[in-house]
Amino acid sequence: MPAWVVVGAQWGDEGKGKVVDLIAEQAELVARYGGGANAGHTLKVGGVKVVTHLLPSGVLHPGVRCVLGAGMVIDPKVLVDELQDCEARGFQVRDRLLVSARAHLTFPFQSAIDRAANAGPRSLGTTGRGIGPTYADKAARLGLRVGEACDLGRHGDALDALVDTWAARARAVGAEAPSREGTRAWLGPLTDELRPLLGDASLAVDTAIREGRRVVLEGAQGTLLDLDHGTYPFVTSSNTVAGGACTGLGIGPTRITEVLGITKAYCTRVGHGPFPTELSGPEGERLREQGEEYGATTGRPRRCGWLDLPALRYAARVNGLTALAVTKLDILAEYPEVPVCVAYTVDGARTEEFPVDALDRAEPVYERWPGWDRSVAEARLEDALPVSVRRYLQGIEKAVGVPVVLASVGAERAATIVRRALF
Ligand code: GDP
Ligand code: IMO
Ligand code: MG
Repeated sequence: MPAWVVVGAQWGDEGKGKVVDLIAEQAELVARYGGGANAGHTLKVGGVKVVTHLLPSGVLHPGVRCVLGAGMVIDPKVLVDELQDCEARGFQVRDRLLVSARAHLTFPFQSAIDRAANAGPRSLGTTGRGIGPTYADKAARLGLRVGEACDLGRHGDALDALVDTWAARARAVGAEAPSREGTRAWLGPLTDELRPLLGDASLAVDTAIREGRRVVLEGAQGTLLDLDHGTYPFVTSSNTVAGGACTGLGIGPTRITEVLGITKAYCTRVGHGPFPTELSGPEGERLREQGEEYGATTGRPRRCGWLDLPALRYAARVNGLTALAVTKLDILAEYPEVPVCVAYTVDGARTEEFPVDALDRAEPVYERWPGWDRSVAEARLEDALPVSVRRYLQGIEKAVGVPVVLASVGAERAATIVRRALF
């Protein structure tokens, strides 16, 4: 049975939540491998909308085991709130949730500094969820892991060292310093809730794959936000690409057989950084309004633009994509033609490759592909799609060299055309 990694092929918000929720119908385990509460994955079933930030997007399926891997950074308050929210809606998750003891915790002082930096001159436009500071502390070997936080009798010194470091930093800039007592008072009730969920995510995921179970490894953010392979410094602080599933969960690359990249039929980006096909003015506004392009985590308006094929080819390469899902095809209805970026001009020269360090100077070269003049929102079979939509999908397949297995025509789970079953 294949283990599928599902990864964002653009700058995040491609519809990973919708696709993972759909394929989780057949899955037995869904694991998140990186990022934290910066993610906002939207699931919609029968008019009910659930946005997951930390929980895997398999939560709505009672038979699916959910795993949070070591590569994640977990704000325990967000996780406990999310669990309670799910329970209030009738979805029981705790008895099928495993949280890696090795995942790092995000504290309020890390989120506060992240938000403060957004107001500064070198702002990246982060989600303000403390992601960068938590991963920085992890790399500095100062961070506190969930297992340690749940056993302060043994690891209290590590917590004190973290808090003292942040208190000294705060005092140096005249800000309010966190205290040891205050932090313990905040953490105590949250770790009481997390303790029963602790486990070995590597063992759980590896065992499931070896037993031939249907496993989905859910990426957060997107390829172009990857710390190493994205548009640095305008990136997140984790490895969002498919390889991050191995390091973030503790499984070997040989365990992964399939990688599904999710792309919108156009492009969006939240936060700062280069975006060659961005549309400013009324065209971008039209896509934003029709696509309801507002962030699922922060509510910020998303920047909108046309599909970028060199970027998608790059995503196919760095993730080793074996399949693509194209979402939001319904939003492009009623455009007589759809511009698609097929190459760039960089310093006067044409290139079809995604430039490593010149994206801010890359001018898109467009082809105008035929649009579709009617709604496709009700289509459930490929035959019901206008020829121009099928040509659009074929054009993507040809340019990227990866088959489109799913075509999404609405936010609802059911609003999907399955061209090839995943399991
Ligand atoms: P994620 O972060 O990749 O899970 O994506 P988000 O949930 O942040 O953003 C995707 C948005 O598009 C959500 O509001 C989804 O409900 C919505 N969505 C997903 N697929 C489709 C689709 O095919 N058509 C439409 N109209 N909306 C979609
Ligand atoms: P999902 O999983 C879209 C962006 C932020 C900012 C940059 C760094 O829903 O696709 P961070 O808070 O991670 O330090 O912010 O990354 N960003 C996302 N954009 N979707 C996301 O997640 C994102 N997570 C982070 O807007 O530009
Ligand atoms: Mg999102």
